[in-house]
Amino acid sequence: MTEKEIEKKYFTLTNDETGESYKLPVIEGTLGPSVIDVRKLYAQSGYFTFDPSFTSTGSCKSRLTFIDGEKGILLHRGYTIEELTEKSSFLEVCHLLLYGDLPNQNELDEFTKNIKYHTMVNEQINYFFRGFRRDAHPMAIMCGVVGALSAFYHDSLDIYDKRQREISAHRLLAKIPTLAAMTYKYNIGQPFMYPRNDLNYAENFLYMCFGVPAEEYKPNPVLAKAMDRIFILHADHEQNASTSTVRLAGSSYANPFACIAAGIASLWGPSHGGANQAVLEMLSEIGSKDKIPEFLERAKDKNDPFRLMGFGHRVYKNYDPRAGVLRESCHEVLEELGVKNEPRLELAMELERIALEDPYFVERKLFPNVDFYSGIILNAMGFPTNMFTVLFAVARTVGWISQWKEMVEEPTLRIGRPRQLYTGPTKRPYVDINERK
Ligand code: SDX
Repeated sequence: MTEKEIEKKYFTLTNDETGESYKLPVIEGTLGPSVIDVRKLYAQSGYFTFDPSFTSTGSCKSRLTFIDGEKGILLHRGYTIEELTEKSSFLEVCHLLLYGDLPNQNELDEFTKNIKYHTMVNEQINYFFRGFRRDAHPMAIMCGVVGALSAFYHDSLDIYDKRQREISAHRLLAKIPTLAAMTYKYNIGQPFMYPRNDLNYAENFLYMCFGVPAEEYKPNPVLAKAMDRIFILHADHEQNASTSTVRLAGSSYANPFACIAAGIASLWGPSHGGANQAVLEMLSEIGSKDKIPEFLERAKDKNDPFRLMGFGHRVYKNYDPRAGVLRESCHEVLEELGVKNEPRLELAMELERIALEDPYFVERKLFPNVDFYSGIILNAMGFPTNMFTVLFAVARTVGWISQWKEMVEEPTLRIGRPRQLYTGPTKRPYVDINERK
């Protein structure tokens, strides 16, 4: 899709002090708000724009994902998330994000083979794990070992070479589940399980996490399907904090392994990908339905740092479509596992019901987001809460590397270098230490 520059559409900005005016071109995309091109504003006016958390700033052009926050719509290359989770596999969605369209059968077979034959990691990587305490947070380990992939591939990676960029993307997609499973095994003191080529992506991940050398492990097809769907739901999401981190790191032509490690670090925050772990901890803290009103009051209290985790979103001012799909998956997985009346699911649904009737949440358009239900499924599948954000990172790696690839392939790529509004001291004379008070 290409945006078109509207010849006659401009915004005129006038400096009321000097009367000078600046004509700023408007650029229209295919969906969503048009943008005012301010690239020349500083040169013309001597002024910067100011938008610290980018609420009104488009940082790039992209063809990958579109979110309509008001309507609760999420598209990947034009396909709705609902149809993709219902009809596609995660590897099909990976192909869609990386190459621009859903693969035909031959393309899917070729892509699947390429990913399958990169799933093993260099045996030396095992020694990186030994440096961590067994109880290290899995995200801390992932930041370390994914960044360490640079040490194995950095020298054979020519970012300017299309084929080598593609190999790096395949390596990352293939190895991230292996490293995530190794992280989990290391945490629980069990031996690492090598990937198997007779299993699909989600089955293989479950096998590497829950298989043991002592007995055969057959992945449960319902759980594998749910895992695959969870990967699709977390694959990409426009220019969120971790994706923007990957893009900014990549704009200096840093290698993709280092860029993905930077994305993992950003995703870890509880305001972002760390929220799925925070939701489970919050539900445990609330404990029972009769405590919900007390916690909702705390969530509204500006003097209380407590937030309703899994609620609210910078872009969605409607239901996050991913939350709806996850809530359905919750019921399927719990039924498959024979879990009746999962107390935290009951509590979450009651919390959602009450919050969505509360004026505070309604006025601010705070709805459940992708993190609200995901933890309940993952917990039911056997993952500990400290692994939830790791699973988010496994899924989001395809979004990060697809956005990185799109950016690096832009002929106009320049290093990202924001400016600032300086509010520090003006120039002052140096004071020797014996004269300081
Ligand atoms: C993800 O960007 C993405 O796309 C991210 C993501 C992806 O796929 O990459 O979708 C994944 O990160 C989902 C979000 C997960 N985080 C959480 O669930 C943490 C809880 N949510 C909040 O921290 C918050 O809603 C954010 C961080 C998600 C969004 O923050 P914003 O856009 O900066 O919103 P805000 O803080 O300006 O909130 C607006 C108002 C404020 O009140 P007022 O000052 O107007 O009175 O809503 C309030 C906030 O206090 N508010 C909440 C709230 N979220 C916002 N109040 C209580 N509980 C909440 N969860």
